[in-house]
Amino acid sequence: MKVFTAIQEIRTHICERKQQGEMVGFVPTMGALHEGHFSLMAQALKENDAVVVSIFVNPLQFGPDEDYEAYPRTLDADLEKAEARGVDIVFAPSAAEMYPEEMQTGVHVHEGTDVLCGKSRPGHFDGVATVVLKLLQIVQPARAYFGQKDAQQAAVLTNMARDFNLPAEIVTGPTVREPDGLALSSRNVNLTSVERREAVWLYEGLKQGALWIEEGSYGPGDILKKAKHTVEANISGTIDYMDILTYPGLKPVKEWNGQVIIAGAVQFSGARLIDNIIVSPG
Ligand code: PAJ
Repeated sequence: MKVFTAIQEIRTHICERKQQGEMVGFVPTMGALHEGHFSLMAQALKENDAVVVSIFVNPLQFGPDEDYEAYPRTLDADLEKAEARGVDIVFAPSAAEMYPEEMQTGVHVHEGTDVLCGKSRPGHFDGVATVVLKLLQIVQPARAYFGQKDAQQAAVLTNMARDFNLPAEIVTGPTVREPDGLALSSRNVNLTSVERREAVWLYEGLKQGALWIEEGSYGPGDILKKAKHTVEANISGTIDYMDILTYPGLKPVKEWNGQVIIAGAVQFSGARLIDNIIVSPG
């Protein structure tokens, strides 16, 4: 496995691989790798000749009061695990390599960000879209892989790729969960042991909501009330949001037709967790 920290060097290497006729797949991450990341890598390895994984905790997508400093950083272990999974190339730049000077230009996402995480994390998706555009320019993959776990992120990036005619195909992979149902997240290590036990209730609430949506006999307002109650009754953290929206459009649901997303975010003492389920009403 080759590891690069310099943009110019990875560019030259990928260029050579492409000249040899290799199709490049790309999995952008912020590290602290887990099975959610590995499932995207496995899919990328199946569908491409060479797989690039980036590991970069992007300061641009964290708000001033968010967990940029506390975000887990485990580069040595990540490199070992990525190699064991058969990844060909890792790009792990420093913040100074990615942002040598303050950015004079950025991507502004102006649709689909007035809801869910976009609403509670102003500027977050601008930071995500900007770094992903930079990474796609550096790696120039045929396909880039993102997890359904961050459904709003996947929707925003799919829209960006279409809006800017990016050559990469944006592929979305399913959410990987712990045996109890908790969605894997790099932030789970920042939960206390009590919070870790409680955390599964976010998914339990969403599952309950998803069942009612499938049944179709209650409206979104009633379903959310019940689902929120289930979560609130079982966790010490606070609900940041729970909502039901059309998917991938992320608009309010007027009637039960077409795919919808039920999504939630919970703030615990040291970690904010998000999760969602995509449902087709019955
Ligand atoms: P990160 O949180 O490290 O996630 C990297 C990729 O792994 C994302 O596409 C995310 O949706 C996916 N992922 C995380 N947990 C998952 C799970 N339990 N199951 C399936 N996929 C999962 O998302 C980011 O980093 C950043 O915003 C990034 C896109 C790298 C831009 O900085």
